[in-house]
This record gives sequence, structure tokens and C-alpha cells, in this order.
Amino acid sequence: MKSKKTSSESLSVQTKMVLPHDTNPLNTLFGGSLLAWMDEIASIAAHKHSDRVVVTASINNVSFTQPIFAGEIVTLEAKVSRAYNSSMEVFVDVFVENSNGKRKKCNEAIYNFVAIDQNRNPISVPALIPESQEEKSRFDSALRRKQLNLVFAGKMKAEEATELKKLLFPNL
Ligand SMILES: CC(C)(COP(=O)(O)OP(=O)(O)OC[C@H]1O[C@@H](n2cnc3c(N)ncnc32)[C@H](O)[C@@H]1OP(=O)(O)O)[C@@H](O)C(=O)NCCC(=O)NCCS
Repeated sequence: MKSKKTSSESLSVQTKMVLPHDTNPLNTLFGGSLLAWMDEIASIAAHKHSDRVVVTASINNVSFTQPIFAGEIVTLEAKVSRAYNSSMEVFVDVFVENSNGKRKKCNEAIYNFVAIDQNRNPISVPALIPESQEEKSRFDSALRRKQLNLVFAGKMKAEEATELKKLLFPNL
């Protein structure tokens, strides 16, 4: 197993068309379908990074900023943004192409995966090397999101969440 991998090595892309069985009564994409699509492509990115079986540990920052209409072409792009001991954060960017061929970003989500062994125990993964400006920015902000998840999951005390404290109380 490599000890380090770049973010782009995990890049995973999937293209879908919004069909009637994926829509809500407003004829736009059902949010639950998009969540499942994002979970699938994010887990592929985490698998590519770790070369292990991965499980979704938590999801944060899902934002449905624009409706996606029936018949539109949806492209999901997922990349690992930071890796820790056994866990990985994955960003999913969702783009839509309309009938004029114009592509716009519609949604974004952040998924957290844990690599597990045959006994379902967490197992270590390669470190992540960010390269582009966006990858570096996502890498830098990942630690506070991890701390937030662990505090919410009851696995970290709020007073130990140093990165969160820096964000919320910069003058302390
Ligand atoms: C995710 C899971 C493997 C964590 O196992 P655990 O024994 O509780 O793990 P630990 O507390 O030792 O933590 C292991 C890693 O998971 C991370 N983790 C645990 N809970 C997390 C959460 N809510 N969000 C993000 N990361 C989390 C820890 O930070 C740790 O990361 P690190 O090794 O990189 O430091 C376990 O809870 C599980 O199997 N959950 C079910 C997953 C599943 O079935 N998902 C599909 C959804 S139906």
C-alpha cells in the first residue's frame, strides 16, 4: 500500500440522466436519489484512495442549492479531500448540463468514510496530498469538520475540539 496519494488519484466521475422514477411531484430530482448517487460515487473515491472496503460514517454539508429537472444530465465528481488514520473525507461536486449544453454547479456534499478490514475493524489508509488551490483549501478546513462530527457523535469532548474553537472563538 502507498503511504501517500494525491487527491486527484481518487477522482471518480459518474454521469446520470434524471428519469421519471428519480423525480418528485414537482418533476425535479428527488433529494433522496441524489443522496444515494452521491454516496455511491463518494464511496468509490474513498475505495480508490484506500484500496479497502469502506463504510459511510457520516455526511455533512449537503446543500441542494438548485433544483435539477427531469431529463437533465447530472455529473457527479468525487475526490478524497483529507485522510486520517482510518477515515477519509470526500467532497462531491454535482454539475448539471441542460439541453443547451451549458454546465453549472448545482450541489455539493461532504461524506466521511472509514476503511475496514475483514472483521469490520477500522484499518489505516494512505495520507492525502492536496495539490490544487481548491484541494488545499478543502484539506485545511477538513479538520474542523472532523472535530464537529466527532463532537456530535459523542466521540470527542467540545473542549478538545481545538480547530472548532479557533473558528468560533478566534480571539481566545
Ligand atoms: C464507522 C465505523 C466503522 C466506526 O467504527 P468505530 O469502532 O466506532 O470507530 P472509532 O471510534 O474507533 O473510529 C474509527 C474512525 O472513524 C472515525 N469516525 C467515527 N465516527 C465518525 C463520524 N460520525 N464521522 C466521521 N468520522 C467518524 C473516527 O474519527 C476514526 O477515524 P481515524 O481512525 O481516521 O482517526 C462504525 O461506526 C460502523 O461500522 N458504522 C456503520 C457504517 C455503515 O454501515 N454505514 C452505512 C450506512 S447504513
